[in-house]
Amino acid sequence: MASLHLEAQVGDIAESVLLPGDPLRAKHVAETFLENAVCYNRVRGMLGFTGYYKGKRVSIQGSGMGMGSAGIYVHELINNYHVKNIIRVGTCGALQRDLDLGQVIIAMSASGDSDANAHLFKGLHFAATADFDLLYRAYEKAKELNINTKQGTIFSSNTFYDTEPNRWDVWEKHGILGVEMESQILFTIAKRFGAKALSILTVSDNILTGESSSQKEREQSYMDMMRIALEIA
Ligand code: HPA
Repeated sequence: MASLHLEAQVGDIAESVLLPGDPLRAKHVAETFLENAVCYNRVRGMLGFTGYYKGKRVSIQGSGMGMGSAGIYVHELINNYHVKNIIRVGTCGALQRDLDLGQVIIAMSASGDSDANAHLFKGLHFAATADFDLLYRAYEKAKELNINTKQGTIFSSNTFYDTEPNRWDVWEKHGILGVEMESQILFTIAKRFGAKALSILTVSDNILTGESSSQKEREQSYMDMMRIALEIA
């Protein structure tokens, strides 16, 4: 049976899913890295594919941008399709001056401004953390592949265009590596339903210095990040 937002049948989606924000990225990665990739979802253009990476069955599903969109797919992947491992692969804006564009970050935890969490935890603050096993394996695999990674905590924001000029000062001071828009809800929902989750990110821009990389410049580090995720999926 299909879920509300995915037309796949149960069994069409692998136990391990890579979750990029952009559905066309999902398509590109499936075409580049997977053998016998089959598209299982076209609803809302949020493409999803299942294929084989080095003989291992894996899926790649677009999540859309923001925790509202990503939360829907994470919930349905776990509850309707029995997905066990979800690895977000995406970009973030750096919040530390010494982070280079293209740096790969393995997120240990995600602070954030999820309204869903504020509501659920009654204004208290749930520490949304990655699964340790996935985190450890990603770290070890990156070393083995000679890919330089930084491990640390990130912030998931529901707004990209902020109105508050010094919004990030306090987060920079507290060592947040970067800002993106999905991981806090991914980690929270995965924990709630007993699935494992991780986010691997590449720095696409630096919020403090204003530096930004072109689509082409992002390609190498994006591929490095994908390789780590596919190897541990
Ligand atoms: N803000 C939020 N999400 C992002 C950013 C950013 O600056 N860069 C990449 N994803």
